Amino acid sequence: MAIGLDEVVAAETVLSDVDGARGQLVIRGHRLDDLAGRTTFEEVVALLFDGFLPLPADVPVALGAARIEAFAMARPLLPLVRDRPVYDAMRAVMAMLPDGTTTADALRLVAAPAVLIPALLRQAGGAAPIAPDAATGHAADVVRMLGHGADGARAAALDTYLVTVCDHGLNASTFAARVVASTAAGLTSAVLAGLGALKGPLHGGAPGPVLDMLDAIAQAGDARAWLSHEVARGERLMGFGHRIYRVRDPRADALKAAVARLPQTAGRLDEAQAIEAIALDVLRAHRPGRVLETNVEFYTALLLEAVGFPREAFTGVFAMGRVAGWIAHAREQALTGRLIRPQSRYIPPSAAAA
Ligand code: ACO
Repeated sequence: MAIGLDEVVAAETVLSDVDGARGQLVIRGHRLDDLAGRTTFEEVVALLFDGFLPLPADVPVALGAARIEAFAMARPLLPLVRDRPVYDAMRAVMAMLPDGTTTADALRLVAAPAVLIPALLRQAGGAAPIAPDAATGHAADVVRMLGHGADGARAAALDTYLVTVCDHGLNASTFAARVVASTAAGLTSAVLAGLGALKGPLHGGAPGPVLDMLDAIAQAGDARAWLSHEVARGERLMGFGHRIYRVRDPRADALKAAVARLPQTAGRLDEAQAIEAIALDVLRAHRPGRVLETNVEFYTALLLEAVGFPREAFTGVFAMGRVAGWIAHAREQALTGRLIRPQSRYIPPSAAAA
């Protein structure tokens, strides 16, 4: 029995392949290296949706229109979630979206985190939300809605990030979305399941704590002593380890390169790389028999910080990219017509007490 489903193949997919031994990620036949930094998020949305939803003639235009629509729907709800953490507020507003299975439903769900995260952050800071501009690229519009104006470098970095995290095999949140889709529920329900699973620190909740860790190390002064103390008391180092990868997560380097292309990140990058090297050393000593390498979340933290997101928004920005994968997987699962319904092994009270 595979508690945690480690070796279980629970779905067939044409969407992405994670080769944990070689450290390769393939998205619909394209290696991550050929997509990240070279393809827009809109192009990747079209790539993922193709064959699962009727594609509009012009995906960037349709996604721009969906941002306008999502903003109009969400705006009256923003004051209701004023006191909630950003991620929970985003999830609550997204729960109000229609629960259909059309292309319009899908694009609205892709658009929602992109308009909600900036609007919620601005609301928390006492500023009015900035309405989306349908004529701007998706990532550039997010940067604009955050209040940074037209900033090509930030937009390019965010675009690279959204493409890098758009899909990743049958990870926990994608599996959750597929389970819900297998019941023939709508796309909003499937996306909400994905959002729930993504939130935890063992999945998409790690990048904020990565920055907390860097801060704590800066304050303590001695990185090796701090990191060794953490693992010795049973804590997991955020941004390291992975269920599938037995080598370095290929997304880490794609994101590191994107951070390096941003102005004024050299000092932060040097500092983070030095801590990364010590952390890997500490983890090797802690678990000599188990490869614990850098995962996507370590450089996600640096990239999103450099783009201008506060750390409480990081997991929501992850959802901004991954929502495309959740929807494609939900459609792929629904097309199989097969309910996902595994079994559990019952342990009677007498055996549990023994
Ligand atoms: N720091 C210290 N020890 C670790 C770490 C870590 N980051 N990761 C794994 N270990 C330890 C585990 O505690 C476990 O030890 P144990 O057998 O004594 O309990 C051992 O290494 C083996 O763990 P795995 O079975 O490989 O880990 P698992 O597949 O269950 O977990 C996970 C993978 C959740 C990503 C884990 O490595 C972790 O918690 N990392 C830190 C959080 C993090 O970075 N999350 C983001 C993941 S990437 C993503 O989802 C987008």
